[in-house]
Amino acid sequence: MNEAIKEVLFDEQDINGIVEALANEINRDYDGKEIILVGLLKGSMVFMSDLLRKIKVPCEIDFMAASSYGSSTVSSGSVNIEKDLSCDIENKNVIVVEDIVDSGNTLGLVLEILRERKPAELRLCSFLSKPSRRVKNIRIDYLGAEIPDRFVVGYGLDFDEKFRNLPYLGILDPKFCS
Ligand code: IMP
Ligand code: MG
Repeated sequence: MNEAIKEVLFDEQDINGIVEALANEINRDYDGKEIILVGLLKGSMVFMSDLLRKIKVPCEIDFMAASSYGSSTVSSGSVNIEKDLSCDIENKNVIVVEDIVDSGNTLGLVLEILRERKPAELRLCSFLSKPSRRVKNIRIDYLGAEIPDRFVVGYGLDFDEKFRNLPYLGILDPKFCS
């Protein structure tokens, strides 16, 4: 195990089970329909690629990268779209794919922007959620797992752009992030 990891929360087998359950729900809900998965870069890319390969309904993918400005406690904060979608989502069934919902600030703003583009349906699928940290109320339609307020890395999630490549999800030793 990587020396910076204090504890493994989900190993590869756990992750496979979580992703499979989410894909099953989506396959059931969208039977006979088409969807667009919108991955939020960079954290969601590993989860998105696993989820995508378990989706059985006709499916397109696209990506977006966003960061928020201003005080995280002000709900009217603004978001900087660093990379926008390359497809038109009007009248489409969109599922936003996120690695983790923490305060929900950035995601809340991204969802508002996407909603203005008039998709037929806009849902959210997140691998993880830290409910104790939530500032903005966000409905997560497909949630992999709730975790406590600990800083986690691996499976696409980073600390300072590192550890995304770990195939498991682990709690980062505070020695490595302080
Ligand atoms: P929010 O706007 O506070 O919900 O920010 C969510 C983003 O913060 C996620 O998409 C992650 O990129 C990042 N993040 C939040 N918690 C963690 C964590 O425990 N590990 C790694 N990244 C995190
Ligand atoms: Mg991140």
